[in-house]
Amino acid sequence: MPTIGIDAIALAVPEGYLDLADLAAARGVPAGKFVEGLGVQRMSVARQHEDPVALAATAARRLFATSGVDPSTIGLCVVGTETAVDHSKPVAAYLHRLLGLPQECRVFEAKHACFGGTAGLLSALDWIAAGSARGRKALIICTDIARYGLSTPGEPTQGAGAVALLVSDNPRLLALEVGSTGSYAQDVNDFWRPLYSKEAVVDGHHSVQCYLDALAGAYKSWQNASAASGITGELARRCYHVPYGKMAKKAHRHVMQIEGKTEAEADASYTAEVATSLRLPSQVGNIYTGSLYLALASLLEAEAAELEGKRIGLFSYGSGCCAEFFAGTVPAGAGAFADKLEMAAPLKDRRKYTFAEYEQIRLRDDKADQRPVNGDAHGLPAGSVAFVGVDADRRVYIA
Ligand SMILES: CC(C)(COP(=O)(O)OP(=O)(O)OC[C@H]1O[C@@H](n2cnc3c(N)ncnc32)[C@H](O)[C@@H]1OP(=O)(O)O)[C@@H](O)C(=O)NCCC(=O)NCCS
Repeated sequence: MPTIGIDAIALAVPEGYLDLADLAAARGVPAGKFVEGLGVQRMSVARQHEDPVALAATAARRLFATSGVDPSTIGLCVVGTETAVDHSKPVAAYLHRLLGLPQECRVFEAKHACFGGTAGLLSALDWIAAGSARGRKALIICTDIARYGLSTPGEPTQGAGAVALLVSDNPRLLALEVGSTGSYAQDVNDFWRPLYSKEAVVDGHHSVQCYLDALAGAYKSWQNASAASGITGELARRCYHVPYGKMAKKAHRHVMQIEGKTEAEADASYTAEVATSLRLPSQVGNIYTGSLYLALASLLEAEAAELEGKRIGLFSYGSGCCAEFFAGTVPAGAGAFADKLEMAAPLKDRRKYTFAEYEQIRLRDDKADQRPVNGDAHGLPAGSVAFVGVDADRRVYIA
C-alpha cells in the first residue's frame, strides 16, 4: 500500500512588507505588544497587482519549477481561499490557463475561512486513496490577503501570501495518516466577511476561545480515530494554524493542559516542538488558509533532515467554524529534498514599506478590482504573475 501525502511545497509572498514596530509607532502602542505580545515582526502587504490569483499562480509555478513535477501530471486542482475574486468563477479556473494544467482535470475553489485549503488537501488524499487519481497528482493552493480595518485590533494580524502543495502517493515531504483525522465543527460568529466588504468582521477575543474549543474537540476526535486505526507513536513536532505566533503558543499550552502537563513542561515542549514552525509566519503575518502550511514549510525548511522517520501533528482551524487535527511522518530523504525546494527563498530581498506607503496601498485597494487594464507588469521577478486590471469585467493577468 503506497503512502499518500505532501510531496512538495512552494510559497509566494508580495514583494513588500510592513515592519510591525513601524505600525505600532504610527498607532501609538508599544512595539512589544505586536512583536512579543502577538509574535509578529513583519506583515506582507499586497499591492493591486498581487491579487489572490496572481499569488496562487506564482506559488504554483515555483512549485513545478523546484519539484521537477510537470503540470501535465495534475488531475485535481483545488484552491482554498477566503479572498475570492468572483462570486462564481473560481480562482482555480484562472489557474488552469496560467499554469497550463491539462483539460482532463477537476478544478474548483473551497471556502471555509482559514480551513478551505485543508478541506482541499483532505479531499485530495481521499481522491488518491479511492483510486480516482489513476497515477495523477493533486495541486492544492491556499491563497489569501488577510485584511482588517485600519486602526482596528485586527490590523497587526494582517498579511498576504500563497502556499502551493503537491499531493501524491509516495510523497517526498510528509506521508499523512489518511482516514485517521479528527474533525470538529460548530456554528459560531467569531470571524466573517459580509459580501459587501473587503475587510473582515471579527470578534477577536471570542475567536481565540472558539479556536481553543475547536482544538480540544478535534484533538480528542483525532486521538479516538488514531486508536481505532491502531496508529501509535509520539508526535515529535506540532504545527498549528497561525493567525499570529502567540495563538500557536496558546494552542500548544491548551493541548499540553489536556495531556495533564504542567505549565513549565508545556513551555519546554513549545520551544522544542513548535517554535521553529513560527519563524516564517512571524515574517509574513496571517495568510489565512495558508497559515498552517507556512508553519509546516518553516519547520521542514529548518529541520526536515533531523525529522526523517518522525511524526508531526497538524491543526487547521477555520472560523465559523470547522477544524481538523491530523498527523504524518517525514519520509527518508526529506531533508535533502527540502534543501532543493528552497521554500523560504521568496522571502529574501523583499522591500520594506514605510507606514505612509502601507496606508496609500490600503486606500488604493478599494478600486483595485475595477481599474481598467494598464498592461503594466510592474517589473515583477521572473516566474511571477500579475493582475493588471479588468477589460469589460474580465480580469486580466500577465506572466
Ligand atoms: C488577537 C487580537 C484579539 C488581539 O487584540 P488586542 O485586544 O488589541 O490585544 P491584547 O490586548 O489581547 O494583547 C495581545 C497580547 O499582547 C500582550 N501585550 C500587550 N502589551 C504588551 C507589551 N507592551 N509588551 C508585550 N506584550 C504585550 C498582551 O498581554 C496579549 O498577550 P496574551 O494574549 O498572552 O495575554 C486582535 O489582534 C484580533 O482581533 N485579531 C484578529 C483575529 C484573530 O486573529 N483571531 C485568532 C483566532 S482565529
